[in-house]
Amino acid sequence: MKDGKHITMAFETSCDETSVAILQDGRQVLSNIIASQIPIHQAFGGVVPEIASRHHLENINLVTDQAMREACIAWDEIDMLAATCGPGLVGALLIGLSTAKTIAYTLGKPLVGVDHRMGHVAANYIQHEGLCPPFTGLIVSGGHTAIVQVEDYNKWKQLGQTRDDAVGEAYDKVARVLGFGYPGGPQVEKAALGGDPKAIHFKRVYLERDQYDFSFSGIKTGVLNYINSEKQAGREVSVADVAASFQEAVLEVLVEKSVRAAVNMGTGKLVLSGGVSANKRLRTMLKDACHKAPLTLYYPTSDLCTDNAAMIGCTAYYKYMEGKRSELDLDAYPSLPTEYDYTKC
Ligand code: KG4
Ligand code: ZN
Repeated sequence: MKDGKHITMAFETSCDETSVAILQDGRQVLSNIIASQIPIHQAFGGVVPEIASRHHLENINLVTDQAMREACIAWDEIDMLAATCGPGLVGALLIGLSTAKTIAYTLGKPLVGVDHRMGHVAANYIQHEGLCPPFTGLIVSGGHTAIVQVEDYNKWKQLGQTRDDAVGEAYDKVARVLGFGYPGGPQVEKAALGGDPKAIHFKRVYLERDQYDFSFSGIKTGVLNYINSEKQAGREVSVADVAASFQEAVLEVLVEKSVRAAVNMGTGKLVLSGGVSANKRLRTMLKDACHKAPLTLYYPTSDLCTDNAAMIGCTAYYKYMEGKRSELDLDAYPSLPTEYDYTKC
């Protein structure tokens, strides 16, 4: 406790960001330190799991110290430890989770494990003071693409998900085809600004029209085929037009399905989250569609879109308030089932 407030220390190490955050009463962020490994993995064109684990290990104590200093928190003021327990890279997850467990055991404080996907959604609670469930959520990141119905802080069900690549993964793959480095999403978005989204028609994959599932694995091949056929015909390829046309094709499907789900679920709210939600074109398209629906659209600021520990601490707080605790033998789960068993973490 600090000044009568509940203090959470949270850890997020599911992929290539080592992050530690301190929160007060669940939604107020006192510090949210993120040590990104992006420059390290850029040389390999993507995240190398073993290298990610090693760097989490090197960084975790430094990032923890910095988070405590910035929040002006002493060890005895911490009330609860939170950590992502999945989905993610198992070796990477274990670093944050083991650190949280060690501190929980040493201080004699409770541990709460968090599903990374719900962490992304909770970034919006931090951003929007008045936001509360129920609502429909669209989670779009490098590892996940899903439409979820959030019935309560700790109760959600998946309405649909990608059957193959996540949308961020599609951005990263197309970026590589276009000659950009990792992570490709922001670079494709930038290139698209100078292009014509109608220049090339890439197939929109809707699968069954009445469902909320996605498929993004084919579009990289579509982009490759287009580039090859243009080159064979001796025509110059406009990177800006390819980027803009690719982006429009994937975003149109995301917007159509998520808005339709939100309208059908009837809560009047659509909540966007995950790394790809930093994309301005996606935000604009969703704003327009939500205005017509009508729906109220929520999304976090860019620093809360990509992986960070504050979103994990916020999720854990609501689990804690409902009396949920994790055991110290809590495992790291590289994948978690759709209908997730909440007793696990
Ligand atoms: O949420 P996140 O940090 O990590 C995962 O949980 O996956 O998301 C990272 C993903 C990467 O694929 C990255 O290319 C994509 O989000 N991304 C973007 C943008 N910023 C990040 N994709 C499109 N446009 C962006 N502005
Ligand atoms: Zn993420």
